[in-house]
Amino acid sequence: MGNHIKNDIDQSITEKSKAAKWLNDRLPIIATLEDTLFKHPYPKNLSYWWNFGSIAGIALVVQILSGLFLAMHYVPNTALAFNSVEHIMRDVRYGWLIRYIHAVGASMFFVALYAHIARGLYYGSYKAPREVLWWIGIIIFLLTMATAFMGYVLPWGQMSFWGATVITNLFSAIPVVGESIVTWLWGGFSVDNPTLNRFFVLHFLMPFLIVGVVLLHLTALHTAGSNNPSGVEIKSKKDIIPFHPYFTIKDMVGFVGFFLVFGYFLFFYPNSLGHPDNYIPANPMVTPAHIVPEWYFLPFYAILRAVPDKLGGVLMMFGAIALLFALPFLDTSKVKSGAYRPIFKKVFWLFIANFLFLGWLGKSPAEGWYIWASRFATLFYYGYFLVILPYLGKVEKTLPEPESIDHHYKSKH
Ligand code: HEM
Repeated sequence: MGNHIKNDIDQSITEKSKAAKWLNDRLPIIATLEDTLFKHPYPKNLSYWWNFGSIAGIALVVQILSGLFLAMHYVPNTALAFNSVEHIMRDVRYGWLIRYIHAVGASMFFVALYAHIARGLYYGSYKAPREVLWWIGIIIFLLTMATAFMGYVLPWGQMSFWGATVITNLFSAIPVVGESIVTWLWGGFSVDNPTLNRFFVLHFLMPFLIVGVVLLHLTALHTAGSNNPSGVEIKSKKDIIPFHPYFTIKDMVGFVGFFLVFGYFLFFYPNSLGHPDNYIPANPMVTPAHIVPEWYFLPFYAILRAVPDKLGGVLMMFGAIALLFALPFLDTSKVKSGAYRPIFKKVFWLFIANFLFLGWLGKSPAEGWYIWASRFATLFYYGYFLVILPYLGKVEKTLPEPESIDHHYKSKH
């Protein structure tokens, strides 16, 4: 495992500096940081698909910093919230920039997360010994979705209000106690000032919680060690290189690519990822023609609407993510990397296409053939995890895996 095979690199900082040793003997912060940022061994064949973890990390930092400055001017009150956001856009110095960074940044965060998850699905990164690392990732995903949902309510536009109404109302499908839960969530009898206030408080708090869970994620990563494109575990020192300088540089390259895409949307199409109705102040008396969530929720929204029964829809929607927790036990294949699984590889891309299709269906009207298409796509989503992966792992004829990471690396270079 990655952690047990150490690199022989230069002396550590605690050996070089007496002050560093003094501090480290009392609080092991120097050795921990040095290990994380410099010395930790990684497989030498990692591809750019392994960049999205650090990209998600920088996206989280961007959200926290821009959010902090927004919160200095935002007012979480139904009478003032919408105007306070317009005030930020028009009057606060570079307020437009801070707000667009935060709004576009939310979308960029989800792009990074989806790419990060898709990489894990393709290369079998959820398999032993990385199950806990994977589970912690899903918890981060859930926390991020909750945070984004509450953040979208804060500008108090039409989509904020109606999105919040639709989604919180889902809890009313729970038998017996459902209605009471919704009243409790709202802090009243509709989405109103108490709801806006608590959503603001929670939206401010949760990113810091996510930071804590990310630290657990990294601890699990360093314990199990990174997976790699060959899916073969680390066997000897020939397979590894230290984080610095190899991956510090490679992560910087990833950041540049990320900020280019970010900047493209930020400076040229800052509103293209949002809904125009959110520039209309919330009005409880006027329901928008189509209530749609942000793009990153659309596949799950399609699953919700595919089921005719409200409770059934809610269960299928949450179940779609709950399934990911069971994934390490559902996939029976001994071979981790999709590169050596010819049939899996094809079904995986079908799964991705189906997920994108679900997203498209989520923003289409819930009528006619769209509903039937959503049902088939939902069935395929579930079938992939519950039928295809367990079965395929047992019958698929896989290709021979490379002897070691070193062999795989040499075959590529
Ligand atoms: C704020 C969100 C997240 C951050 C900052 C983060 C950070 C990272 C970093 C830095 C790595 C190592 C580099 C890499 O492999 O890309 C990593 C690996 C990993 N992450 Fe995340 N992650 C996040 C969310 C998630 C989510 C949502 C999942 C899954 C549902 C997940 C699952 C994994 C797995 C399985 C690995 C090991 C992958 C491998 O070695 O092949 N992470 N994460």
